[in-house]
Amino acid sequence: MPEADATTKAEKEFHANVPQESHAFFLKGSNAHDWGMNNRLARIFNPRSGKAVMLAFDHGYFQGPTTGLERVDLSILPLAPYADALMLTRGILRSVIPPASPNAIVMRASGGPSILKELSNEQIAVSIEDAVRMNVSAVAVQVFIGGELETQSVHNMTRLVDEGNRYGIPVLAVTAVGKEMVRDAKYMRLACRICAELGAAFVKTYYVPEDFETVSASCPVPLVIAGGKKLPELEALRMAHASIAQGAAGVDMGRNIFQAESPVAMIQAVRKVVHEGASPEQAFDSYKASKSVKR
Ligand code: R5P
Repeated sequence: MPEADATTKAEKEFHANVPQESHAFFLKGSNAHDWGMNNRLARIFNPRSGKAVMLAFDHGYFQGPTTGLERVDLSILPLAPYADALMLTRGILRSVIPPASPNAIVMRASGGPSILKELSNEQIAVSIEDAVRMNVSAVAVQVFIGGELETQSVHNMTRLVDEGNRYGIPVLAVTAVGKEMVRDAKYMRLACRICAELGAAFVKTYYVPEDFETVSASCPVPLVIAGGKKLPELEALRMAHASIAQGAAGVDMGRNIFQAESPVAMIQAVRKVVHEGASPEQAFDSYKASKSVKR
């Protein structure tokens, strides 16, 4: 039994005249989630900047040992301290990532076909119980709008959303653009909006140079952009900067970081753009300076 609290009412600090404040959650479209889901989102997105630097290295789930990912232990672990979240498969998580790592984990939860087959033929590849066991901050699922097995991939997403909602785990919908699809704002608006309407907590898409702001404006939940194919570093920084300036809440970049000449310098430069509002040129200057320091 605790000792009786003998303090008198007059001495207690009830602050009866101070109304309790209610705080809106900092991410757009995310106020109606449960506490656990927003706690997880706040591990991925920095509450101070409202933005996220996610490092994507899940490419092996359909294309095997991608250039730069032959040895994840050697190439990716040195980058982890600069990433808010790691986007990866459960195989790599358990085999390579130290459990003491402070990064938020965004777990690839769809898969099936390799690059040798029809890519849209994915199934859910991780149970929600295993996602909980791994303490993930979100699960990610590929959605192939316009793809051969579009409905199957959308169904994968909606099932994960239902399961994620049971445990407070956000779903990241990854818009996969087939080779036959035109990569323009019209397509991205369609794909992102469908994912959000059907329950994704946030959406990963590609930056398009024309009208990207209409993609982010018409998507009611946060958007992060993929990096796509390797670009010269300054161009990749320009893309990151333009996407943030036009409404993206972060980047989920892979090849443009781990295939850079200096991946550690590159992820630091990306952070400057995303979290500190640095211009691409300022960030590129620090990239060059940091690259010249032997690591
Ligand atoms: C691809 O399907 C995976 O989700 C990758 O994580 C994604 O494409 C991001 O990687 P990158 O920046 O290399 O395009």
